[in-house]
Amino acid sequence: MTITDIVLIEGAGPRYRQIADQLAQLIESGALPANSKLPTHRALADQLGVTVGTVTRAYAEAERRGLVEARIGAGTFVVGDNAAVWTFDSCGGGDPEDTHFSYNIPPWLDRAQMLNQAMQQLTRNPAMLNQLMLYQKPEGIEQHRVQMAQWLSHHHVHLDPQRLLFSSGAQNATHMVLDAFCRAGDTLLVEKYSYPGLISLARQKQITLKPVDMDAEGLLPEALDAACRLYQPRLIYAMPTFQNPTTGTLSASRREAILAVCRKHKLYLIEDEVNGLLPRERPEAMVNMDPEQVIHIGALSKCLAPGLRVGYLQVPEKLHTQMAVTLQNHSWMISPLLTGIACELIRAGDADRVLQQIRQEVERRLELTLQYLGEFQLRYQRDCFHVWLKLPEQLRLSEFVAAAEARNIKLKSGELFAPPGAAIPPAVRLSISAPRDLEELEAGLKVVRELLQQESSAGFSL
Ligand SMILES: Cc1ncc(COP(=O)(O)O)c(C=O)c1O
Repeated sequence: MTITDIVLIEGAGPRYRQIADQLAQLIESGALPANSKLPTHRALADQLGVTVGTVTRAYAEAERRGLVEARIGAGTFVVGDNAAVWTFDSCGGGDPEDTHFSYNIPPWLDRAQMLNQAMQQLTRNPAMLNQLMLYQKPEGIEQHRVQMAQWLSHHHVHLDPQRLLFSSGAQNATHMVLDAFCRAGDTLLVEKYSYPGLISLARQKQITLKPVDMDAEGLLPEALDAACRLYQPRLIYAMPTFQNPTTGTLSASRREAILAVCRKHKLYLIEDEVNGLLPRERPEAMVNMDPEQVIHIGALSKCLAPGLRVGYLQVPEKLHTQMAVTLQNHSWMISPLLTGIACELIRAGDADRVLQQIRQEVERRLELTLQYLGEFQLRYQRDCFHVWLKLPEQLRLSEFVAAAEARNIKLKSGELFAPPGAAIPPAVRLSISAPRDLEELEAGLKVVRELLQQESSAGFSL
């Protein structure tokens, strides 16, 4: 069965819904594979003998169900298999020939010794250790919350220990926030290029993402104001520090201006600050500026260890109970053993030591990166794990990514950061923190430079 076999039956419900239902069947059966282009509205309308408006409504319904996406200037497409695209293919393992620029992970560090010491320290207090083995309230152990909030306050993030909630990393925090406050069919405003984990989550939950224009810093307040009026979103999501993928960091005045827009439209802002602890110098977190307007999300994944899966969030006071109930519904509580280990690493000074080491290593890596790629259109920031590389005009994105892959270079195509319907940026994200060492980074950068120097995509040998 193909799209030409769609049939409309008199009396079987609205025509747009019949079309959307049959599109769903075609996609589910594989007859319409991921990324296939649907006929234009006019062509399908002519084929089915309906108005263009009916097809427009059917495609909108299919988009609302997360089945298809309209790409500006290109048409309507069956959504890609996003889970497959965005799943980690390997992290720390995989083909030893590959150079991974794909993940925003901290540079490799031996953490075994500090973990060993942290666990020994925990076993010195059997009463506490036994308590960690029990069910807790969803808020977790108060002492852990106090310790975490205190440490964060030394890193420019002021959270209330009575309102801080733990999560299993920032991704889990984002998932819980969307579960608590959004329903299928809601709209979420996001930066024009956004985090693939958020895009994937929204797709699964049938939340519509609407991209908002950015400049080099990030979200533009005027564009946000216009989008709030146009789309009447449920929430706004942004990455104010080391935006993923563009690296932008919002200035203090821009943060104030964005918060003013949120207050004007009575909208909460999800502040994803997973990268917020990395910079040595940075503006105030937005949650410090207006804790009742901001849903703050952070984690130790970038500054300590992603495998620890310790993250945290704070929501405005009036949302707190709903958030705690959602956390309880998800997992009852976050493993207190893990938050206990994290707090011990903080108490012993290891968390700060690791953060210093990470910054020093990333600084060396950025220097090397600029030696090789400095002549190209590159966005970067001191202490940031990733750089955002705009391709020279003569190169096509898909061909560049394929050519890199053929040379065992794994990087993230700009396509992954485009919310459904947004234009695809002709750029790639390189995580300079990810290669195992400086040698591997340098070898990878050499290949990337060679590829960028091609006079056209035709020069790529695949
Ligand atoms: C912007 C952003 N948010 C959230 C996450 C997920 O972080 P975590 O590993 O703490 O779940 C990432 C991971 O790269 C990210 O880049």
